Amino acid sequence: MTEAARKRMIVAITGASGTIYGIRLLEFLRQEGVETHLIMSRNAQIAMAAETEVKPADVERLADVVHSNQNLGAACSSGSFRTMGMIVAPCSIKTMSEIATGVTSSLVSRAADVALKERRRVVLMLRETPLHLGHIRSMAAVTEAGAIVYPPVPAFYARPVSIDDMVDYTVRRVLDLFDLHLEAPGRWQGLTPRPRASDSE
Ligand SMILES: Cc1cc2nc3c(=O)[nH]c(=O)nc-3n(C[C@H](O)[C@H](O)[C@H](O)COP(=O)(O)O)c2cc1C
Repeated sequence: MTEAARKRMIVAITGASGTIYGIRLLEFLRQEGVETHLIMSRNAQIAMAAETEVKPADVERLADVVHSNQNLGAACSSGSFRTMGMIVAPCSIKTMSEIATGVTSSLVSRAADVALKERRRVVLMLRETPLHLGHIRSMAAVTEAGAIVYPPVPAFYARPVSIDDMVDYTVRRVLDLFDLHLEAPGRWQGLTPRPRASDSE
């Protein structure tokens, strides 16, 4: 397969609540035949241990390539390594702030910075509540740099009955942003039309 034809995605998991989003994303991308390059921060592993039974080694097995967050010489540290872009799932305030200010001291922030300079799609599944003005200013700055801030907020109109439903719906909507349109129960089809008054006469 040529470089141009290869579908590759950088997936970063950082130390915010919602590490399940990154895990599910890797599973979906594997199903879709997209080559994944995973970077997990140290705090992602701490958050994952706090909120799931999944071990970092199991998550790494879902990815095609795993990079240390300290390895600034990894392939995805260079714009010449072609990718569809990058998803940070979930994204901590710290990581978003680094990306917003161009600090590239870890591979996560370097890879995001590179993807943005190459004008590739970068989606940050930012998780924090509530937000202070500094957070909102950083959200504006990353948006101005070309990133998409996508807080993983559940959509209740999809009538989720489980946490898995909520997670899957959100991850599919993120993949829509990369033109990867997965079969998705719960996609909005419009409100059920009300019968016309004349029909009931
Ligand atoms: C269990 C746990 C949950 C956390 N949840 C969040 C969160 O939801 N959002 C956030 O911005 N930071 C959260 N933090 C704090 C970040 O992990 C911390 O700011 C860290 O420096 C982020 O580094 P990283 O982005 O390199 O992973 C959490 C930390 C822990 C240990």
